[in-house]
Amino acid sequence: MNKITNDIIYIGVNDHQIDLFEGQYLVPKGISYNSYLINDEKKVIMDTVDVGFAQEWLANIKEVLKREQPDYVVVQHMEPDHSASIAELVKEYPNITVVGNAKTFTMLKQFFKDIKVNQQVVSENDTLILGKHSLKFIMAPMVHWPEVMMSYEESEQILFSADAFGKFGALDVEEEWQNEARRYYIGIVGKYGVQVQNVLKKAASLAIKTICPLHGPILKDNLEKYLNAYQVWSSYQPETKGVLIAYSSIYGHTKKAVEILEKALKQNSLNDVVVRDLARSDLSEVISLAFQYDTLVLAGVTYNGGLFPHMNTFMEGLVERNYQKRKVAIIENGTWAPMLAKKVMEKLANSKEITYVEPIIKINASISEQNVQEIENLSKQLLD
Ligand code: FEO
Repeated sequence: MNKITNDIIYIGVNDHQIDLFEGQYLVPKGISYNSYLINDEKKVIMDTVDVGFAQEWLANIKEVLKREQPDYVVVQHMEPDHSASIAELVKEYPNITVVGNAKTFTMLKQFFKDIKVNQQVVSENDTLILGKHSLKFIMAPMVHWPEVMMSYEESEQILFSADAFGKFGALDVEEEWQNEARRYYIGIVGKYGVQVQNVLKKAASLAIKTICPLHGPILKDNLEKYLNAYQVWSSYQPETKGVLIAYSSIYGHTKKAVEILEKALKQNSLNDVVVRDLARSDLSEVISLAFQYDTLVLAGVTYNGGLFPHMNTFMEGLVERNYQKRKVAIIENGTWAPMLAKKVMEKLANSKEITYVEPIIKINASISEQNVQEIENLSKQLLD
């Protein structure tokens, strides 16, 4: 077993069988369900794992504890990727005490209708003494569910951060943190920036040496990088100066406009330009890119008097996650009634601090000489 410190051991599992995380997110490199064991006078298990991995996980516990019994399982989050093996754990160790907050136990009874467990209900700043180690509980509602709490181990300054600071990707796959951590964060908690900011304020008062999240790698070095990323993402600030061009094209005319714009931007030395065809991309990645960059160009056709289906889903994904504080340019195409600009502005009507780049470029079916000039001008405006 992998030791985080002498007394804190990783007992989680990697899932490479999963097709969609949370029933919607592609995870080509799998996902890890992290769980930890604190081996002190009192033995504590931090969260469980997806039920498909319960036996592997119980074997990990036995490898560490041998014939000893765990005293507590701390349930920081009741989403089944972390809680579904509670019943298996209680079956194996009937004397164990489940530690959670009031909301945890309401959810526990919903997921496990007939379960009978020893319970210890904790609230904000309550402490559980384990021997040399002690856990202080920090409520983190809506990061990602209402019952979420984090646990701070005081003697070794370890923050067990629940879903926060996690990323997609199993732990036996090497991958840099930022992009998949952003796609994960924006996807699952992007809507709850205010709540994440509240927890970051609480975390700011703690000395933290190590962050142990429920997914992805244990974070030990350069913690500022991860804390800063969460600060930027949860306050909806752009992370990178650059342009995302997201487009929908049916017969290639809108795509042609996108290619002209991309070329012009790159010729004018703006290299941070990414282009995504919304019908042929993982929309969770494109949504993550929209939150990364400070500028979004939407290029698209009109369909049934409204947005093309993938553009519609993309826009709803942005709005749902409180997209704001960005520059938006629009290239709309229609053979008889181009509607992209009108429909996009309706979607973003309640989004804060959206600055539209004027003028909107209008293509009638195919690109005219005038359109080429307008696109060149747009590239100059975006560079300014
Ligand atoms: Fe990893 Fe919100 O569960």
